[in-house]
Amino acid sequence: MTKTRKCLNRNNKKSKKNSQPVNQYYFTMKKTAILSVAIASVILFSCGRDKTKPNSVYMPDMMYSRAIETYSNTDTLKAQGIFYNATPVKGTIKRGELFPFSIEMDKVGDSTNYIASRQVQNPLPALDAVQTKEAERLYLVNCGICHGTKLDGNGPLYNDGKGPYSAAPRALATDPIVVNMPDGQMFYSISYGKNLMGGYASQLNTTQRWMVIHYIRSKQKPAAPVAAAPAAAADTTVKK
Ligand code: HEC
Repeated sequence: MTKTRKCLNRNNKKSKKNSQPVNQYYFTMKKTAILSVAIASVILFSCGRDKTKPNSVYMPDMMYSRAIETYSNTDTLKAQGIFYNATPVKGTIKRGELFPFSIEMDKVGDSTNYIASRQVQNPLPALDAVQTKEAERLYLVNCGICHGTKLDGNGPLYNDGKGPYSAAPRALATDPIVVNMPDGQMFYSISYGKNLMGGYASQLNTTQRWMVIHYIRSKQKPAAPVAAAPAAAADTTVKK
């Protein structure tokens, strides 16, 4: 710049000597000013967002994160098109859910855990009327076919021995073995099965199995004859 000015000064007439460089500065400054105002306004306007009008968003799932916070509501996820099947993480227990039965199924020919199960108490308090109705429904759906709707061990599958099912199911209401059987042992048999009876752990959850046991108890006559039921008699693992 200085060089040019010097050059102009040297070559041009005196009148132009001062005015021209001033004008040049003026225009350069004006251009810079206009340019910076333009750039500033572009930046400003691009930042401002009219929230009354939907803007087009590039990569919406990056702009609006779909991260789900812990304990946030999951009820509306399906409606939002997000896949969520509510399956609990393995090894976790839902709030309000009973602890799983910790006694594992015996190996073939062993009865250690079957015997140990006698120590386990029914964790559910006595059922109210609504729960009893539900427990009855569960019993009739899953057990009545063999053990009978009256818990007399004579359901339609057995039918006095004439039915397709040859093994006699126990009369849950009257058989002294069942009447004197601790709840935990019953739970073990219902969960893992007993001889020809299959296990019901996949049909009834832990709470439902304990509910059915409450139901069976409610149908039993209290106080079974003590003499007929010493501890050994309740050990039904002994093969006949
Ligand atoms: C397919 C027929 C069948 C069904 C269904 C069935 N049971 Fe049984 N159950 C049996 C037979 C047979 C026995 C006798 C098993 C033995 O001691 O050999 C038995 C035995 C039992 C015993 C005594 C267990 C023991 O340790 O001696 C209980 C308690 C019992 N069942 C409860 C239930 C309950 C509760 C249900 C429903 C969830 C059910 N059963 C469903 C056939 C059945």
